[in-house]
Amino acid sequence: MKNKELLIILDQVYKVTGFDAQYYRPSTLKRRLERRLLATRSKNYREYLVYLKKNPLEYNKFLEALTINVTEFFRDKRIFHTLKRKILPDILEKTAANKKKRIRIWSVGCSKGQEPYSLAIILKEILKNRINRFQIIIHATDLNNSVIKQAKTARYEKSEIKNVPQKYLNKYFIKNNNNEFKIKNNVKKLVRFRQHDLIKGNSLGKFDFILCRNLFIFFTLELQKELIKKIHASLRKEGILVLGTAETVKYEDLFSCLSFSDHIYQKIT
Ligand SMILES: C[S@@+](CC[C@H](N)C(=O)[O-])C[C@H]1O[C@@H](n2cnc3c(N)ncnc32)[C@H](O)[C@@H]1O
Repeated sequence: MKNKELLIILDQVYKVTGFDAQYYRPSTLKRRLERRLLATRSKNYREYLVYLKKNPLEYNKFLEALTINVTEFFRDKRIFHTLKRKILPDILEKTAANKKKRIRIWSVGCSKGQEPYSLAIILKEILKNRINRFQIIIHATDLNNSVIKQAKTARYEKSEIKNVPQKYLNKYFIKNNNNEFKIKNNVKKLVRFRQHDLIKGNSLGKFDFILCRNLFIFFTLELQKELIKKIHASLRKEGILVLGTAETVKYEDLFSCLSFSDHIYQKIT
């Protein structure tokens, strides 16, 4: 990244917030920063830096502009179908065969919770009342604390539930008077949300299954490679990883590909 003034802004943001934006793709970074320049009426990076220093609330706005939170329930429907039909039943079967109960799942970059709640709904659908035979915890993390707060409320507007099949809406949501849809407690209790930075955060232990979808697209190739190793280290033996439809594993010796079209991988070493 050549622009010196841009680097000074990133350095300032890092000093104040601890957030290291240098790993984001320069094109994404510049596009997002342009929006903040417009919003703050700064004519150039230098003016924006002055604005930033005078208006501490802008740090958060900058972070929110950068961490794009677009998500939806059952995003890429076909992939969730594969998870329901094959991947999750296999994990459940293997756990039961090993006489174990505990299953740890990680939804990395979970945004407002649609991804982990979709998974929880699928698990309820597969297991029905056998769900108590397992101890399933879906750990859902995101860098951005404000999306985590929203996710914890488990409340969604009508526009946000458009992908949810009617039968799941009837079964797993309660419509309240404000025309909001709230996830029922029996689904909600499967998911634990917390703020966590995949780049800088501590290990959260080992998982059987990790979804890390639509996160890598914002990172440089160099960082993607580093994070794949980190995710590999967070998986149990033969653990499963699902990436986004525009993302692939860069280290073929660490993972075997279970489905090219669905971007599903298995830890091999
Ligand atoms: C585009 S959303 C994807 C949400 C969901 N995984 C999906 O596929 O629908 C990307 C999310 O990653 C989060 N994120 C960005 N950088 C992160 C980091 N370093 N650690 C954890 N989460 C991060 C953003 O805040 C955002 O909520």
